[in-house]
Amino acid sequence: MLTGHTLRDRYRIYDRLGSGGAATVYLARDAQTGQMVIVKVVHPHLVDEQFMGRFRREIDLLQQLGNPYIIRLYDWALREFEPETKQTLSYIIAEFVEGHTLADIVDTRGALDEMDALAITRQLALGLADIHDHGIVHRDVKSQNIMITPNNQAKLIDFGIAKGQNHATLTDPSHFAGTLYYAPPEQILEAHGVDHRADIYALGVVLYEMLMASLPIKSREFGTVASKIIAGDLDPLTGVSPEVESLVSDMIAYRVENRIASAKEVVRRIEKITGGAQDPSIEDLPPSTTAMLMRVPPEAAKSSTGPSYKLVTVTGQAIPLTKTDMIIGRSHPRDSATPDIDLWTLGIEDARTASRRHCRIFQDGKKYFIEDLGSMNGTFLNDVQLQTGTTHPLKEGDRIMTGRVQLTFSCGTE
Ligand SMILES: Nc1ncnc2c1ncn2[C@@H]1O[C@H](COP(=O)(O)OP(=O)(O)O)[C@@H](O)[C@H]1O
Ligand SMILES: [Mg+2]
Repeated sequence: MLTGHTLRDRYRIYDRLGSGGAATVYLARDAQTGQMVIVKVVHPHLVDEQFMGRFRREIDLLQQLGNPYIIRLYDWALREFEPETKQTLSYIIAEFVEGHTLADIVDTRGALDEMDALAITRQLALGLADIHDHGIVHRDVKSQNIMITPNNQAKLIDFGIAKGQNHATLTDPSHFAGTLYYAPPEQILEAHGVDHRADIYALGVVLYEMLMASLPIKSREFGTVASKIIAGDLDPLTGVSPEVESLVSDMIAYRVENRIASAKEVVRRIEKITGGAQDPSIEDLPPSTTAMLMRVPPEAAKSSTGPSYKLVTVTGQAIPLTKTDMIIGRSHPRDSATPDIDLWTLGIEDARTASRRHCRIFQDGKKYFIEDLGSMNGTFLNDVQLQTGTTHPLKEGDRIMTGRVQLTFSCGTE
């Protein structure tokens, strides 16, 4: 665990943002510039000779980009010994993007209107055109790897540098489930042979997802999803204008040679539909979450003997607080990680109004506290909305709203 450490006497790590099959992402502050950055630490077992070659090449190329729709890369380390942690680490330092993932926005708000969906796709296509010109294929374009900033800018994050052997994970459902929905048939059939048109297909699926608020394949089962992609069996796009329908179908064409051939062409097609360059204008995007993330989390209390703390739903279902620090949220088939308290698998009505990492309940000393984690629909304590990043003590009978899900805090003594 690197939280609280400083890498290279420069990057002070505050909090863990997420962890996937290839790397763990932390939020940090660059002591030299004062900027917030992310540190993406690659799992050491993935760092072999082949990986190191690719890592260096892609870093060199990405560092030359200054595209507003692509995350910026600042610095990197390859098998570098960090005296403070006494570990040998490989990582990249990249721009911290404020805002929410597109996946979260679509999940909590439903479908976007055509103009916004097209405007977001256009920005991403401009970003892709730039990396494709540099000979880089992203290979993992999906709504979870797209951030939307509070001032309506789309940014592609999560570059392949840290992905290791992609084709190996394709057969590993736990790591690839999220990405699979966006993979073109050729990526499943011949993982080695994909080119930039795999990114165009994936962006087409993202556009579909924004318009329909669902994916073109609904199954949550790995094998079914893969075989539907190979069979070209995608649910049709409905309720959109004919121009948009044909744009999506040209982006997700089954055969590579029938697909729109370049990201620049995607931009042209969109501008033809929208009558020129348009930026998205999604209203009421939630405020930035930097404040909450800059706070160093308190050390979790060690012992939890004594009263049996729990949350109780409106139907009387009790959710015991089994750990001293728990994230409440809602899992999604695209995520490999689930929150400690998963409102979705608990079968709670309105679970979809909660964000994936909605709020956090933790013990400090003898008391429990609650904190909103920058959720989309907000966390309310006894009808008062909590400001993200501030902590509030909990007492018996307090009513917590996570989106539209009501939970009552109880110190229960039985
Ligand atoms: N630059 C960033 N700014 C803000 N949040 C980020 C950034 N990079 C990653 N994240 C958050 O961390 C999550 C995981 O990061 P990602 O780079 O996609 O790694 P993984 O390989 O685990 O998918 C993202 O979905 C996003 O929520
Ligand atoms: Mg990712």
